[in-house]
Amino acid sequence: MTTFRARLRGVLCGAGLGLCGVALVLLVVMLLRTYGTRPSGPATGLRAERQRRALAAFSPRELQELKEVLQGAVRMKTVSFSPDDQNITALAEFKPYIYKAFPRVFSTSFIQHEIIGDYSHLFTIQGSNPQLQPYMLIAHIDVVPASPDGWDVSDPFSAEERDGFIYGRGTLDNKNSAMGILHALEFLLRRNYRPQRSFYIGLGHDEEVDGKKGAMKIVAELQSRGVQLSFVLDEGSFIFNGVISRKEKPIAVIAITEKGALNINLSVTSSPGHSSAPPKRTSIGILSEALYKLETQPMPNLFGRGPEIRMFEELVPALSFPLNIVMANLWFFASLVGRFLEQNPTTNPLVRTTTAISMFHAGIKTNVIPPRASASVNFRIHPSQTIDEVMRIVEEKIDDKSVKIEVMNAFDPSHVSPWDDQTFGTQVLHQTILDVFPDVAIVAPGVCIGNTDSRHYSNLTKAIYRFNPVTFKADDLSRFHGLNERISMKDYAKQVEFLFQLIQNCDLNQPTEPNTYHHEL
Ligand SMILES: *[C@@H]1O[C@H](CO)[C@@H](O)[C@H](O)[C@H]1NC(C)=O
Ligand SMILES: *[C@@H]1O[C@H](CO)[C@@H](O)[C@H](O)[C@H]1NC(C)=O
Ligand SMILES: *[C@@H]1O[C@H](CO)[C@@H](O)[C@H](O)[C@H]1NC(C)=O
Ligand SMILES: [Zn+2]
Repeated sequence: MTTFRARLRGVLCGAGLGLCGVALVLLVVMLLRTYGTRPSGPATGLRAERQRRALAAFSPRELQELKEVLQGAVRMKTVSFSPDDQNITALAEFKPYIYKAFPRVFSTSFIQHEIIGDYSHLFTIQGSNPQLQPYMLIAHIDVVPASPDGWDVSDPFSAEERDGFIYGRGTLDNKNSAMGILHALEFLLRRNYRPQRSFYIGLGHDEEVDGKKGAMKIVAELQSRGVQLSFVLDEGSFIFNGVISRKEKPIAVIAITEKGALNINLSVTSSPGHSSAPPKRTSIGILSEALYKLETQPMPNLFGRGPEIRMFEELVPALSFPLNIVMANLWFFASLVGRFLEQNPTTNPLVRTTTAISMFHAGIKTNVIPPRASASVNFRIHPSQTIDEVMRIVEEKIDDKSVKIEVMNAFDPSHVSPWDDQTFGTQVLHQTILDVFPDVAIVAPGVCIGNTDSRHYSNLTKAIYRFNPVTFKADDLSRFHGLNERISMKDYAKQVEFLFQLIQNCDLNQPTEPNTYHHEL
């Protein structure tokens, strides 16, 4: 008895030591991954030649001008209601407006302006050195509709200033970029800056309704001219402040991909009849059951399988204990973190393909069994999934032949752009963020959960980045396409300064770029 007990104790103790040993090794590995040296994003080889640049010390007069030009743009009701219903009167007014607001841009001999697809704008800025591969800055001038209900200001198109903010539809999405790019160029030209590297500016007019008439036509035009771009910069991510936890420093996230989308229609047809002698199952009941299955059994949690994991890994140095240990060791904690992120509707889209039932139509009268019920479901596809995989899961889940499933439109997640020190776009964006936002702790790659015009640019470059250099706080998400969209004048001036520096940083030499580019614009 004693010998058995002693032996048992020995075995348990050995196992305990074994477990302790494993735990100790795990702990050491985790600490090393957390506090050890790690590559902190792409190194930048662009620091030379600093002194030649024009300074972005905007005068009070220039700041006033920035504000008034942005306000005027917001007051133009360039609303996209649907692909076939846009306010073309307002879109047409945009051309004379920018012509007047940016006199130097329109009178400079090395800048060409073209209208594409009736209302979109393409600028070609011919650099002095045709050896350098051009890049492109894009934005859009259309906005989603806004009714005054619920806004703190009386009219979402008044561009009213309040407490240092300009309120109005389009102040963040995306007239700030459209006006900001042109204003940065205008200010550089007024300081007699002549870019060495050529670049393009593309302002689409139908981004909010898919970009087929604007961005796609601009891309087709450039493709027909044989243009290849070194990188494209569009909207789509921000400088986040206090979003992850309240104390960390601001973090700049540049989206290197965006989610795909899939719209399906589900319909059920049954024979019509009187409600006094109903069939066992009605079209509404059958369709509801299918929708119930889709809504209550979400698509799989894929956290860690796509590029979203890189953002969390690169955040480590900005996080405090114990979050830093967790994020540095996602090889161990990914499923835990994934389950945590899915609890919150704002982070859930990062971990999975989302499912949103967006329309439902059936029935006309209380005593008539409707012959047909139909509904639309919108999925936003996680970067590690494809349209086909999502459709297969949808069919498996619904598992009912009487429900007809039709694909309305769909596109796969975007190709993931390179994020490394060999890529000019990554380097120049990283450098410019450090120059203009010295308090930013980390520049990390991320995923855009919405869609932008930039997804149409894949034939022109592999390097597509989505970043709007304004600060985004925890309560700002709902302002997009929502109430009280606004930008602070301080942020807007910083955005223009960023673009102003970016254009100049693109002229710095980059040792890794092969110097063999020849292209006639
Ligand atoms: C369309 O734009 C015009 C010109 O800016 C404006 O007067 C009109 O109210 C706008 N219509 C709608 C429906 O927004
Ligand atoms: C898809 O379903 C929605 C909602 O029922 C309906 O409004 C729309 O007309 C349908 N589209 C097609 C092409 O059937
Ligand atoms: C890319 O180019 C190919 C060949 O010209 C064309 O068929 C395709 O539609 C283009 N894709 C995009 C997204 O523009
Ligand atoms: Zn937008």
